[in-house]
Amino acid sequence: METKLAYQAVEEVEADALAVVLFENEADPAELKFASSWLEGLRACGEFSGKSDELVVLHQPQGIKAKRFVAVGGGKKENSDLRRATAAAVRALKQKGVKKLAWWLNGGDPEAAAEGAMIGNFEPDQYKTANQGKSLEEFCAIAAGNGREFDLAFERGRVLAQAQNFARSLVNEPANRLTPLILADRAGAMAAEAGLEFEMLDQDRMRQLGMGSLLGVAQGSAEPPALIIVRYKPEAAPKTGDHLGLVGKGVTFDTGGVSIKPADGMEKMKYDMAGGAAVLGAMQAIAKLKPAIPVTAFVPAVENMVGGRAQRPGDIVKSLNGKTVEVLNTDAEGRLILIDAITYAQRQGCTHLVDAATLTGAIVVALGHVNAGAFTNNEALLAKVMAAARAEGEKIWHMPLDDEYKDLLKSAFADLANIGGRWGGAISAAWFLREFVGDTPWVHLDIAGTAWLDDAKPYMAKGPTGIGVRTFARLALNW
Ligand code: BES
Ligand code: MN
Ligand code: ZN
Repeated sequence: METKLAYQAVEEVEADALAVVLFENEADPAELKFASSWLEGLRACGEFSGKSDELVVLHQPQGIKAKRFVAVGGGKKENSDLRRATAAAVRALKQKGVKKLAWWLNGGDPEAAAEGAMIGNFEPDQYKTANQGKSLEEFCAIAAGNGREFDLAFERGRVLAQAQNFARSLVNEPANRLTPLILADRAGAMAAEAGLEFEMLDQDRMRQLGMGSLLGVAQGSAEPPALIIVRYKPEAAPKTGDHLGLVGKGVTFDTGGVSIKPADGMEKMKYDMAGGAAVLGAMQAIAKLKPAIPVTAFVPAVENMVGGRAQRPGDIVKSLNGKTVEVLNTDAEGRLILIDAITYAQRQGCTHLVDAATLTGAIVVALGHVNAGAFTNNEALLAKVMAAARAEGEKIWHMPLDDEYKDLLKSAFADLANIGGRWGGAISAAWFLREFVGDTPWVHLDIAGTAWLDDAKPYMAKGPTGIGVRTFARLALNW
């Protein structure tokens, strides 16, 4: 889809449809004079009142060049979500056959409009050889006057949404088409195109280094593992010594291993690399938006399989930082690969770490599909992550990490067990990571409940959401 911003008068815009967001508690703008009696009629009979998710279409409007005029409900102006309203309108209008959509901003935020349009236009249907969903070919935001600020904001929205859709397309790939090495290739191609440094540690290198915890998970699969590294360095010398490390879980498929998962719903476990995809998406946006801080992404990529070489419950592995771990459940594999990536990130000089991982079913029990769980050893860093998430409309909720929970991870035979029992499972998982993070300021996002939509929403297709991409990119920009 071509996505652009034009400075034009409403009457002059040529398009299949010209749309605008109208609110419950605000009079319709004077520029819509051509449609005012139509809108009055709709409002009088209650068919359109400006509530969110409402959408009405006027065909062959008189007095403007566009073929259709569309009023989109924005809710109450003070708490309206322009990103969602735009995405929902795009999803509804593409179904109606609109190819070229003009979107009159009416003073609204161009960044949110660009993001909404591109996120709403994404469909995870690339493997359907017939009946692919309809999609927009052009989205043109219309603003009055001319402004550099507007241009920049629109471009920022475009970049962020493109990065988010890149992450979604990675997550949508089935595990036979996205092995750890293929994920590394995709990351390498993205890095080359965006002008980022790319490096991959292969199995031999990881053996030399002593990443026993990551390799223990990988050994059950015929697909070799990879530690994917993507580096962004700002052009100007950074003002502080800060170096942000983004770590993302990259399990391309999670069968559970010998502690195997039930068959029902197992196909969804192709999204177990959504954290990795999120940090790679964020790096693409970071390359284009050029924050002042160096950022490095680390994605441990493995396939968690059952097989003759798979690790067994009770196996004891030695992690890169030297601590030993008793693998009581091979399905708690995400934390086992993350700890070696975290230690490696620290050795690479990262001063602050943020990780994203589809880590536990327990976070879904705790927070459902609305909020990602956030865990930290550093309130100041969490405040930055929260602020970035709020600005980008991604919801995260602060979860506890009291010392008492740490005891859940005691092992009789090794330094730590890799599971903490049934209760507070998302918290013991986070504590497991924290044991390896040490004093480095760190935030962990458990995105198991928010990285995948089981049913389409008005504003988003079923499947991968791309959660985390915008928050991480914004975090780097705001640093
Ligand atoms: N990838 C799963 C977590 C998950 C569950 C993601 C549901 C998305 C939806 C993770 O590797 C896992 O299997 N975790 C176990 C941990 C348990 C064995 C302590 C879980 O949550 O059941
Ligand atoms: Mn698992
Ligand atoms: Zn997993």
